[in-house]
Amino acid sequence: MEYAKLGRGELLSLKNDVQKEYDLLKGKGLSLNMSRGKPAPEQIDDSDGLLTVLTSSEEAKKNGDYRNYGLLEGIPEMRALFAEIFDVPAKNVLACGNSSLNLMYDAVMRGYVFGVGEGKTPWGKQGKIKFLCPCPGYDRHFAVTEEFGFELIPVKMTPTGPDMDEVETLVRDPAVKGIWCVPKYSNPTGVTYSDETVRRLASLRPAADDFRIFWDNAYYVHPIYPERDEKLLNIFTEAHKAGNDDIFYEFSSTSKITYPGGGVSCIIASDANIAFIKKHLSIQTISYDKINQLRHVLYFKTAENLKKHMIGQASHLRPKFETVENAFTKELSGLGIAEWTHPAGGYFVSLDVLDGTAKRVHALAKDAGVTLTSPGATYPYKNDPRDRNLRIAPSYPSTEELRSAMEILCCCVRLAALEKLTENN
Ligand SMILES: Cc1ncc(COP(=O)(O)O)c(C=O)c1O
Repeated sequence: MEYAKLGRGELLSLKNDVQKEYDLLKGKGLSLNMSRGKPAPEQIDDSDGLLTVLTSSEEAKKNGDYRNYGLLEGIPEMRALFAEIFDVPAKNVLACGNSSLNLMYDAVMRGYVFGVGEGKTPWGKQGKIKFLCPCPGYDRHFAVTEEFGFELIPVKMTPTGPDMDEVETLVRDPAVKGIWCVPKYSNPTGVTYSDETVRRLASLRPAADDFRIFWDNAYYVHPIYPERDEKLLNIFTEAHKAGNDDIFYEFSSTSKITYPGGGVSCIIASDANIAFIKKHLSIQTISYDKINQLRHVLYFKTAENLKKHMIGQASHLRPKFETVENAFTKELSGLGIAEWTHPAGGYFVSLDVLDGTAKRVHALAKDAGVTLTSPGATYPYKNDPRDRNLRIAPSYPSTEELRSAMEILCCCVRLAALEKLTENN
């Protein structure tokens, strides 16, 4: 029964019941952190072959001595592996260090200090500058551009990606210098951008000639249901078709494939962008960790093997996502107080609770021992104007723990809604 259709008396009595339920659950003394999208230990165990795959210097010397300095672009084998995965020429791939977020930060920093290409004015010397932030989105993206003083402009996320009418209007402002995108199994909604969205992005004609799409393809090979992996158009190809080769920087890493923080990242871009990036990178570093790149290459050998490895990862994640879906369906559907996404991949579920109650749900859950991502985190400046979005990260806890955590979370969603509805009545 929808809460909105109940009278005040019924709501108050229901609130009493749910409060009792909450007190009981709180009494269990659970302590569980669901705030970040970290792989569970058993997912990481699956990559332990990395620890033993490289045992001799002979292997590291086969194609030049990877134990020594050199190859700023990354080892050819790793560049080729990324090229195969993302279906781009290897010359347009730089295989880098352990973190793609680091590459994104550096890309913003370069634009800010040096501009995005030869002869371009640094973003930092252009007065007021703005960045488009599809939301709900990834808090760490927003934090990067906030740190550099960009004005963060929220753009509505739809089931097919960012609202492209809004994007096309906003880029008429020359102060708008870029947009954050997680195009596949997006963080946190799980949305994969439709072909139309990718094409419209790839053919944008922004007023700023130094506008860049930050295409963070973190979850490109991360289906939860591999047999119905969603298809994403290739930004590299689409930008080229649109005569817009330089408009994007694509990023990814093996953080959610092998070891988070111990994997290999990459940047994919046009010839001109790669040349400019390399020029500055060569001042920044002599070369990345080629030994770790080699470990990854020896371990996976082919993109096909890497995809098989991801089927194994999916089998760990699936029961957890299904636990979340089942709990929400059982506890919250039909009440008119919550909506959630049903991702087919990635690491997150996005939950919208009754307007004005996300902070309260977070606080109630915390008191009962369940830590969720901070409310507001999925919006620029941590400001969710409707105070309703929460990011659920089901990967780390065991399925058993997750079941208990979901029971608490659903109870908190109902209690916060009932508090709100009885306060307003
Ligand atoms: C969308 C997205 N991009 C980047 C990262 C971080 O990647 P890395 O470990 O390569 O820095 C994450 C981690 O959760 C993420 O969700």
